[in-house]
Amino acid sequence: MEIAHEIAEIRRLVSLAKKAGQTVGFVPTLGALHQGHMSLIGRAREQTDFVTVSIFLNPRQFGPEEDLGKYPQPQEKDLALCEKAGVDAVFIPSVEQMYPSGHCTVVKVEGLSEKLCGAHRPGFFAGVTTVVAKLFNIVEPDIAYFGQKDAQQGLIIKRMVKELDMPVEIRMCPTVREDDGLAMSSRNAYLNSQQRSQASCLYRALLEGKKLIESGQMDRDKITAQMEGIIKAAGPCTIDYIAAVDSQNLEPPTPETQCWLLALAVRIGPARLIDNILVEIPTNK
Ligand code: PAJ
Repeated sequence: MEIAHEIAEIRRLVSLAKKAGQTVGFVPTLGALHQGHMSLIGRAREQTDFVTVSIFLNPRQFGPEEDLGKYPQPQEKDLALCEKAGVDAVFIPSVEQMYPSGHCTVVKVEGLSEKLCGAHRPGFFAGVTTVVAKLFNIVEPDIAYFGQKDAQQGLIIKRMVKELDMPVEIRMCPTVREDDGLAMSSRNAYLNSQQRSQASCLYRALLEGKKLIESGQMDRDKITAQMEGIIKAAGPCTIDYIAAVDSQNLEPPTPETQCWLLALAVRIGPARLIDNILVEIPTNK
C-alpha cells in the first residue's frame, strides 16, 4: 500500500494505474475509520481495480464551536485497517497542502445546502463540497463511494458532480449499524455508557416513522411528533431537527413523492448524532 502526503505523489500513483488500464475507486474520509467506512472501501475493492482512500480532517467543514479539536485521529490504526482491506493508495494531505494560505475558492450547492443539517451548521456543506471537489480533481476517480448515513451530503455531492460536469460516478452504500441499531460514527466515541444506550432511540424513532408511513400515515407532522416522543422518552437530549421530506429534493413530500427520507439530528451529551432512513411508497396503490 502506498501512502501519499503530497498532491503530486497521489496524482503520480493514480496516473500509473490508469496507464495500466485500471479503473480507480475512491473513498474520501475524515479518518477514525470504523466498519461504516470499511464497507465503502470493501465495495470499492470489489468494483474497481485501484482503490484510493483519503484521510483528511477537513477544517473547513467544522464551525468554530464544533469538535475539530477533539475529533479522533488514530492514524496508525487507520492505515493498518486500509492495508488489511487491500487499499492501493492512501492520500493523507496536510492542511497546508489542501489550503495554502490565501485559498479563497468555495464550491457551494445552493438551496440543498441550507436545509436539514445545513440550517444548524452554517457553512458545513460548502466546506464538504469544496474539499470533495478538490479531492475529485486531485484523484480523478472513476467511481467514488459515499454512505447513506450522510444522506444529505450524498444528495449534494451528486448535484455538484452533475452541475459541474465532473467525470465521476457517485455510488451510495447502505448505513452500517451497531447491534442495537445505532449508526456507526466516529462521534459515538464521545458517548458515555448511559448516553450510548440512550442513543439507540434514534433508530427506533426512524423505524416507527417508517412503520407509520407504510401503514398509510402521510401527515408529516404526526409522523415527526411520534418520532419526537420516542426520542424524548429515552432521556435528556437536544433535538436539532426531525424531518420527513422527499428524498430527491428535501422538500415536503407531495402525493407524487416516490421515496420519503426520514432524517434527524439529536445532541446527546457531547455528541451530535445524525441518522436517516428511506421509505419507498408503493406505486400500484
Ligand atoms: P466521514 O464522516 O469520515 O465519512 C466518510 C464516508 O463514510 C462518508 O461517505 C460517510 O457517509 C460514510 N459513513 C460514515 N458512517 C457510515 C456508516 N455507519 N455506514 C455507512 N457509511 C458511513 O463524510 C465525511 O467523512 C466527510 O464529509 C467527507 C466526505 C470525507 C468530506 O470531508
